[in-house]
Amino acid sequence: MAFASTQYDTIGDKYNDIKVLPFSFYERANVRAAVQPYLDANPSAAVLDLACGTGFISRSLVEWGARYVLGVDISVGMIEAARADGRGQGGGGGGGDDDDGDNGGRLRYVVGDAKGLGRLDWEGNEIGHAGEEGAGEGEGKGQFDIVVGTWLLNYAEDTVEMAKMWRSIVTNLKDGGVFIGTVPRAADDLDGLVARKARFNAEHPGYFGATWEHPHKLANGEGYLGRMRGHGTRPFVFEWYHLRKEIHEVAARRAGMTGRFEWRQLVLEEEDRRRASEEYWERYEQMCGHFSILVAHK
Ligand SMILES: C[S@@+](CC[C@H](N)C(=O)[O-])C[C@H]1O[C@@H](n2cnc3c(N)ncnc32)[C@H](O)[C@@H]1O
Repeated sequence: MAFASTQYDTIGDKYNDIKVLPFSFYERANVRAAVQPYLDANPSAAVLDLACGTGFISRSLVEWGARYVLGVDISVGMIEAARADGRGQGGGGGGGDDDDGDNGGRLRYVVGDAKGLGRLDWEGNEIGHAGEEGAGEGEGKGQFDIVVGTWLLNYAEDTVEMAKMWRSIVTNLKDGGVFIGTVPRAADDLDGLVARKARFNAEHPGYFGATWEHPHKLANGEGYLGRMRGHGTRPFVFEWYHLRKEIHEVAARRAGMTGRFEWRQLVLEEEDRRRASEEYWERYEQMCGHFSILVAHK
């Protein structure tokens, strides 16, 4: 966990530079496709957005119909950038008043470690502790209908650490609630995917305005260290873990997620396809894409 809590503090809003690139629109559209049916079915849905970063998805969730969104991130710098965006709560005051720009007080951000969250209320106050076993004291009493984690689970370096994240999810979901997350492209043959990406990077350096690398295998045998470089006018680099596909479900079950566990088929909408050339999308597949979406029920 050496890098997770601080590496983003100096990135802050530079991170937003990749959000205007075609692959990010593709990613956002697929997150929306996964989450929208649950928002449509429940107009009063409260959503917990873990690893919210600069609030890119948190703001989208409000736009897509969430009644209320609490964004949690371990990085003070990212939470500051999210708040500075002005489309969420800027600190102070209770949520819920309709006086907060176009989000009407429906969005709040707090700093927190998703590997050890107790039961949170809508404002991010801890109202119960996760126990040692299973979902702990908060089981069945979570306040949130949906937990979203776009690029959350890839901050666990092994099954044990990922189970801690799932425990925070279980603790905060209502019974029958759903988790929706993005993770690095989940492949049955992770070694093959890493080799293809390395070949692609050698042939087309920096092609997407960002590069996904895998510097080395993890000593624990569960996957690879990952590294992303943003090549915009404000370059940045950050690291994460790319664990084997099956570890996600093993960790979820261990933490008490007992419901259906699905890997979603990705869809490239025409509107997003048109944001780039045919060659771009061919090369995107050639380098095996950058994300997968999983949906897991409590
Ligand atoms: C790649 S960013 C994703 C931001 C946002 N979810 C998005 O999709 O744009 C990953 C975020 O995970 C956060 N993070 C890493 N480990 C975390 C942890 N244990 N608890 C909460 N946030 C964490 C980082 O600080 C960073 O902001």
